[in-house]
Amino acid sequence: MRKTVLALMLIAAVLAASLALLAGRAQAQDVPKLRMGLLPILDVLPFYVADEAGYFAAEGIEIELIPVSSALERDQLVIAGEIDGMVNDLISTGIFNQDKTLIQIVSLARRAYPDAPQFRLLGAPRSNVTIPSDLTNVEIGISENSVIHYIAQRILEAEGVSAADLTFRAEPNIAIRFQLLMEGQLKAACLPDPLAQAAIVGGATLIADDTALVETQFSQSVLSFRSEVIEEQPEAVEGFLRAWMRAADDINADPEAYRALWLEKTNVPDSVKDTYALPPFPTYEITNEAAWDDTVAWLIEQGIVESTASYADTVNPAFLEAIAPAGGDAAQGEALFASLGCIGCHTLDGTASAGPSVAGIAGRAGSTVDGLSAAEYLQQAIVEPAAFVVEGFGPIMPAYDTLSEVDLAALVAYLLTLE
Ligand code: HEC
Repeated sequence: MRKTVLALMLIAAVLAASLALLAGRAQAQDVPKLRMGLLPILDVLPFYVADEAGYFAAEGIEIELIPVSSALERDQLVIAGEIDGMVNDLISTGIFNQDKTLIQIVSLARRAYPDAPQFRLLGAPRSNVTIPSDLTNVEIGISENSVIHYIAQRILEAEGVSAADLTFRAEPNIAIRFQLLMEGQLKAACLPDPLAQAAIVGGATLIADDTALVETQFSQSVLSFRSEVIEEQPEAVEGFLRAWMRAADDINADPEAYRALWLEKTNVPDSVKDTYALPPFPTYEITNEAAWDDTVAWLIEQGIVESTASYADTVNPAFLEAIAPAGGDAAQGEALFASLGCIGCHTLDGTASAGPSVAGIAGRAGSTVDGLSAAEYLQQAIVEPAAFVVEGFGPIMPAYDTLSEVDLAALVAYLLTLE
């Protein structure tokens, strides 16, 4: 009798153990995994911040960060299906998508800001190449048919120099391009920060930079995934982006806290490791149509591709729309209030024009229509103005019913600040 009980207990224990093992295995398989190819450049910092803070794990996903040493290596891994996503740029995306939509952009990763350029054009130390028009007489070192080539040309066009007057010289290895510039064997070159900053510290002259392209947003890097991965693992991509945005917010709030990690994970020249100011990272922003169209036009003009996928096929805003904070971004809403023309009918100073002034609207919006909260009323007033027409005004406001959810939330957030 005792033997049978023991035997039964033993069987039960073995069963329990193997069940636990099976469960453990099942769980390990269930955790969605994405493999990201990362160059050792500034743009990838939020990946490492998110990883260290445990933000990927908190989303229930595993993100494998795979260092790559060149864009070529990264692109080969994408084509082989050995990495799922990456940081790349619009030129690279256009080349990837020339035959079919191989990859999709899901967010910006970096862009030029007024105080934080991504790319700069530099004159060699002790050379007489110092202003944009000097560049018509010398060869400009670039990496051919890459984002560096495109941005160098667009910066100079923005400075009034015609592309027809420029001569470029291909020096694809960035370290060598830097060296040739510093030694004066190249009179000018285009380099990304922080290397460009190191060149300046070493005596090179800043001629122009991509802050000239902040308005058009031609200068940007992006987060993209293989279309197949987006189709098969949309939840993982969404979780990844949520974690990435948290990390970008952390860096923007306190850049200095991440200097050590930046130095550890990316290539930073010694001369600027303490002094280079970490730039802001864009959050909840995505490539606009004009920037994509300009990229495509350049790729075709250069004869690099014959055609490539459309904006609608290449740029996928669905993930950002799904994760954008419900509250909306008031600063973005303020910009939209001007750019969408709301300001033409609504003053901010209390005087009525074609429409009521929005001064103090946050205070009264909640008590205008019974049953609607302030945010609900404002949303209705924008999307469906005819549903309630403010006394003393005609029903002339156009219905803004094709705004994205992100833009609508931003407008509402902005109006709620007008107390
Ligand atoms: C062509 C002029 C015009 C434009 C452009 C316009 N509005 Fe209006 N808006 C009006 C008028 C007129 C009213 C009042 C009548 C009504 O309620 O429809 C109004 C009402 C509103 C109200 C309710 C105001 C209150 O006091 O309760 C809000 C909020 C509002 N508009 C927001 C916007 C936003 C945001 C935009 C831009 C996306 C915009 N409007 C663009 C004319 C305009």
